[in-house]
Amino acid sequence: MKIEVRSNHTRIIHPKHTYLVTSISKDGKGNVCAVAWASPVSHDPPLLMIALQHGHKTTANIKETGIFTINIPSYKLRDQVIAAGTRSGWDVDKIETIPLTFKEGKTGCPVIEECIGWVECTVRDRYRCGDHTVFVGEVISTMAEETHWKGYWDNPEILLHYGGDQFGMGKKT
Ligand SMILES: Cc1cc2nc3c(=O)[nH]c(=O)nc-3n(C[C@H](O)[C@H](O)[C@H](O)COP(=O)(O)O)c2cc1C
Repeated sequence: MKIEVRSNHTRIIHPKHTYLVTSISKDGKGNVCAVAWASPVSHDPPLLMIALQHGHKTTANIKETGIFTINIPSYKLRDQVIAAGTRSGWDVDKIETIPLTFKEGKTGCPVIEECIGWVECTVRDRYRCGDHTVFVGEVISTMAEETHWKGYWDNPEILLHYGGDQFGMGKKT
């Protein structure tokens, strides 16, 4: 028997792979936030999208500088993802306070050394979608940890977000 799931059209399509999106303001200050609403949208040209609430510091940064990076954490970075996803860069300097190593990437946006990979993007389009801004990013550079990459992820412990404070781990079978 099915039950009707009211007012929760988002969680019904979770769990989703969870990312750490890094950004930078026009005066050069980096930030990081957790993002589960992300997807490829085109092979050629190579485009990805992320959906961000209008009020996030990350949203303001990406509007200012037109660059962002999708960093891919493994399950062992769960606590850092929660820290990045529960405090705002408007209130706290997450680059200084979250125990992660941030380095300058090719676009100038920070990349996170402890992540198993990252995708650096420049903003190609931006759409206002209800309470979120959708940024479509053109891929500039992609990097993956070689021990985990065989043209696809070869069984790193992928961090999955079920919604709220519920997480899981994805494994290839
Ligand atoms: C696992 C997880 C996934 C999240 N996914 C998204 C998302 O896809 N889009 C979004 O706007 N916020 C998402 N959030 C919430 C933001 O990460 C959070 O509000 C963060 O504090 C925003 O930081 P900022 O203001 O520094 O950009 C998520 C939070 C968590 C913990």
